[in-house]
Amino acid sequence: MKQDGQTAERRTDLELVGVGDIRCEYKRNPVGIDIANPRLGWKLFGSRRGVMQTAYRIQTAEEDPGFGRLVWDSGWAESGRSQQVEYAGEPLRSCTRYHVRVMIRDEAGRESEWSEPAFWETGLLEAGEWTGDFIGCEAEGDGSQAEPVPLFRKTFQVSGAVERATVYVTALGLYELRLNGSKVGGDLLTPGWTSYTNRLQYQTYDITAQLREGDNAAGALVGEGWYRGSFSWDHQRSIYGNRSALLAEIRIRYRDGREERIATDESWKRSQSEIVASEMYAGEQTDARLLQPGWDLPGFDDSGWKPAERIEADKRRLVAQVNEPVRVQELLRPVELLRTPAGDTVLDMGQNMVGFIRVRAKGPAGAEIVLEHAEVLDKDGNFYADNLRGAKQRNRYVLRGEGDETFEPRFSFQGFRYVRVAAYPGEVKPECFEGVVIHSDMEQSGRFECSEPLVNRLQMNILWGQKGNFVDVPTDCPQRDERMGWTGDAQVFARTACFNMNTASFFTKWLLDMKAEQMENGAIPNYIPHVLPKPRAMAAWGDAVTIVPWALYECYGDTRILAEMYDSMVRWVEYMRSHGEEGADWGKQPQIGDWLALDAKQGSYRGATPEDLVAAAYYVHSTGLVVKTAELLGKEEDAARYRRLHARILDDFRREYVTPNGRIASPTQTAQVLALMFDLLEERDVPRTVTALEELLKKNKNHLTTGFVGTPYICLVLSRFGRTDLAYELLLQQDFPSWLDQVKKGATTIWEHWDGIKEDGSFWSADMNSFNHYAYGSIGDWMYRTVTGINTDPEKPGYKHIHIEPQIDPRLSYAKASYQSLYGAIEAGWSRTDEGMELTVAIPPNTTASVVLPAASRRLLLESGTSVNAAAGIYRTEETADGGIRLEIGSGRYRFTYPAEISEQVPEPTN
Ligand code: BGC
Repeated sequence: MKQDGQTAERRTDLELVGVGDIRCEYKRNPVGIDIANPRLGWKLFGSRRGVMQTAYRIQTAEEDPGFGRLVWDSGWAESGRSQQVEYAGEPLRSCTRYHVRVMIRDEAGRESEWSEPAFWETGLLEAGEWTGDFIGCEAEGDGSQAEPVPLFRKTFQVSGAVERATVYVTALGLYELRLNGSKVGGDLLTPGWTSYTNRLQYQTYDITAQLREGDNAAGALVGEGWYRGSFSWDHQRSIYGNRSALLAEIRIRYRDGREERIATDESWKRSQSEIVASEMYAGEQTDARLLQPGWDLPGFDDSGWKPAERIEADKRRLVAQVNEPVRVQELLRPVELLRTPAGDTVLDMGQNMVGFIRVRAKGPAGAEIVLEHAEVLDKDGNFYADNLRGAKQRNRYVLRGEGDETFEPRFSFQGFRYVRVAAYPGEVKPECFEGVVIHSDMEQSGRFECSEPLVNRLQMNILWGQKGNFVDVPTDCPQRDERMGWTGDAQVFARTACFNMNTASFFTKWLLDMKAEQMENGAIPNYIPHVLPKPRAMAAWGDAVTIVPWALYECYGDTRILAEMYDSMVRWVEYMRSHGEEGADWGKQPQIGDWLALDAKQGSYRGATPEDLVAAAYYVHSTGLVVKTAELLGKEEDAARYRRLHARILDDFRREYVTPNGRIASPTQTAQVLALMFDLLEERDVPRTVTALEELLKKNKNHLTTGFVGTPYICLVLSRFGRTDLAYELLLQQDFPSWLDQVKKGATTIWEHWDGIKEDGSFWSADMNSFNHYAYGSIGDWMYRTVTGINTDPEKPGYKHIHIEPQIDPRLSYAKASYQSLYGAIEAGWSRTDEGMELTVAIPPNTTASVVLPAASRRLLLESGTSVNAAAGIYRTEETADGGIRLEIGSGRYRFTYPAEISEQVPEPTN
């Protein structure tokens, strides 16, 4: 055993550790934070091994980049914590910029320099601070049809040198705010979609650079969006209200200390824009001949405009934006221009994407462009839009006839790979069309690659599924007349999502809506935000309320979201309990079980695993998460109470679903998977269940039959119980049903059904057949956690301590992944070389890791070419029970090599 002896003493010969990338509430220099004690985080930079923070000091200054006016000096805090550190200074004031800098002491006792300063700016902390009113138009039609998008405008004076100008803005509907002729901020679909009746987000923008001394003009368009446009498969209109409205407040601070406010009120004027109709599913229609040039500039003659109307709306529900806004992320060019057998002109974007087409054209006034969007071509190569059901996804533009014109929808988006150009003035040239990809502006944090190109394409498909469905809300699909925040889909994909992108703020915002929409009796509606009457709750869907916060805790060390959601988690468990004291009673409620599993009866959506078994299993699981959360939050009594409930319903599960001889009563893959995954069995029944799962797989030639419930866990379970070889087999299958079967059929996203496109090229059905449904993308979690072996440690969550244990398979020659944790980049990769194994690992400063090298012997193990015993940063090595080596290491980059005999055996043939 080797111990690191240099921790306490001062070393002066070491490179100085840098501190930087300061975040507030996960964001860099955010404006508009309305949290009383926001959380700060920073990274340490240093390439030497074993960098740790032993103490930190934070200073926060109010409106003073020179750090003279301090509102908080934490002093030296003896702590290794560098994430999730709560601001604990003087109470924060609204609309104020707080500058922050951090200094740390490293493991050798050396102090760093101050970090580069960062800042956050508060929003309007109290609803009563809004000066203006919501403004809108008088109701025009009866609300049964999409109405033209209104314009609002207001001119105002800027009289002097501006120190800083900020706008706070939101809408009932979707808005685009403009100042002196250009858009404010780069965000789309603002204010986003929340539980509007309870929470309406506002955005904050620094507009100092957009103002000018003298005359200025503010303008806005307000579309119907989720608030009031046709939405849900029932095509309801006015779900939240029948008047769209705008609320904005500009605050100008002059250098001489004066402050001025320009807020929405009846002095604003209104007119009609060139957007004649815009809806989420239907698409957008613009008649550019109606454009009023210069309407958002100061000199414009608005004498013909009417005064805006004041709209009564509750401002107490206003909250600052929590998640990253939706923004343009990338641009795609068509890869092909097709002429289909049916005679249509169709552009192939090469990728099933979400966003819209930006189109350029030149033509006479009144000429039309009509674009229709779909995900697939049918087996004859024709444009196929039947699976979109009632979503037309049709954008129409009428040209103004003045030279080059460019169009794109402002308040609608489409999910598509193919674009049917139903009308266009002149020849259709691909270079005039551009695919604009949009999604919530999350940082991509994960990358995965291996020696099998089809798996790499699968990884891309998973990522594209996430891009397309993380458009402000985690939706089931982005194209048909649904696009809703289905809880089950989000919960099964949550861990994969956290690998691929930093989803902490994205999910936090959604969970706050979930909390707001939880029903009196504790039920969690099936989709959040909730849009249809008569909310229903079901197992595996409602359990998102325990599972997603727990995922955020594990991946980001976020205990605040657990505290925030704790009551909701408890109330959900109590809701399940309210159906009867027996663990199985909850399952007697209407459920949908292992949705879309292949062992379903012909034509049915529901898998063969009894729905009550699924419900009873999740009941135990959620109760277990409540116990862990109560323990973590120090709620001892609750922890004890739910521990008792957990023990009881676990017992009920066994009595109901496990025979006295230890066989699970339901012979389905998913039943075995759940029992193993959620630790529902007595120790002695585990091997038999693993064998049962193996046999069920074998019966199916090592193919899965699992649906939404079983699929996310099947490979995790196989790996946990020693059958990683079988898990690889499932991953690497190339025929139906499998992940790679879809890839081989040309999928560029994840399909809703294993057999979305059948062997003969026909489709599953038109009524529910999405080609961009991320649930089965949940295999990504296993790929990161098992193939490359990057894992969290629940004891030190958020990757403060990292667990790296790749499980290697002869069918791959290499695999590597990187994950940008809050502490910095984690990397793990292995490759089989002529000499044996090579494993590279990178661990960020201020974290430690346990690394397990499979089939390695200490005697022959080298790190960067020398003995591990001599390597810096390695604190401990020990042999594992199954013939590998476990190392405890500190930060840094390592390259381990060893001669290894990885079994060349693959599972026995199955025909
Ligand atoms: C959605 C799902 C959802 C399911 C549950 C479907 O229409 O697209 O993904 O979870 O319904 O009923």
